[in-house]
Amino acid sequence: MENFDRKKHWENIYQTKELPEVSWFQPTPETSLDLIAKAGVLKNAKIIDIGGGDSFLVDYLLDLGYTDIRVLDISNAAIERAKKRLGERAMLVKWIVTDVAEFKPSEKYDIWHDRAAFHFLTKEDEIAEYVKTASNSLNQGGHLIIGTFSDKGPEKCSGIAIKQYTENSLVNLFSNTFQKTACNEVEHQTPFNTTQNFIFCSLKKKA
Ligand SMILES: C[S@@+](CC[C@H](N)C(=O)[O-])C[C@H]1O[C@@H](n2cnc3c(N)ncnc32)[C@H](O)[C@@H]1O
Repeated sequence: MENFDRKKHWENIYQTKELPEVSWFQPTPETSLDLIAKAGVLKNAKIIDIGGGDSFLVDYLLDLGYTDIRVLDISNAAIERAKKRLGERAMLVKWIVTDVAEFKPSEKYDIWHDRAAFHFLTKEDEIAEYVKTASNSLNQGGHLIIGTFSDKGPEKCSGIAIKQYTENSLVNLFSNTFQKTACNEVEHQTPFNTTQNFIFCSLKKKA
C-alpha cells in the first residue's frame, strides 16, 4: 500500500457509512470508561481521545462531568458528525483534525486514550513516533489507555492492514516511559454479530 491515502480512506468511510454500519461501533464504550474511572483522575483532568472518530466516549465523559476533553481524528467528517450529535455540548470539547503520526501536541495530558486507532500505524518509524509523542505529552503519573486488536483478533479493519499486539508486546513497546497498571483481553461484539478480540492496557507514566 505504498501510495495509500489514509485521510481519503477515512473521510470516505465517514461520508458513506452510518455509525451502526461500522465494525467498531459500540453503544457504550465500557472498557474505556472502566479504565478511565480506575485511573482516578480529577474531573478537570486533561483528556485526549486519539482517533476518537464519532465514538460515544466523549458523550459519556461529558455526562460524567469531565470538563477538559479533546477528540483527535484524521477525518474531518468524523469530527463534524460527533459535533453535530453533541449539539451545543460540542463547544465544551476541543476538536483536532490531524494525522496522529504528525501530531505535535502543544500541551500535556493526564489521560491519552486510543481505541482502535494506534493499530493502523504499521510502519516502524510511525509507531516509534507515536510512542514518543504519547510519552512526551503525558504528565508524570499520567495514564495511557490503549486498545488494539490482539493476536487473536482480525488482521485487517475496514479493508486496511493493522498491526496486532499482545499484552507483552504492547507493554514492552511503551516500557521505557510507562509501567503497566492493568491489561485485559476484551471480545468486542460487532453490529454484524461477529466478535473481535482486543487487548486493552492502562499504562502509567513513570516518575
Ligand atoms: C476503528 S475506528 C475507531 C474509532 C473510535 N476510537 C471508536 O472506538 O469508536 C479508527 C479511527 O481512527 C481514525 N484514524 C485512523 N488513522 C488515524 C491517524 N493516523 N490519525 C488520526 N486518526 C486516525 C479513523 O478516522 C477512525 O475514526
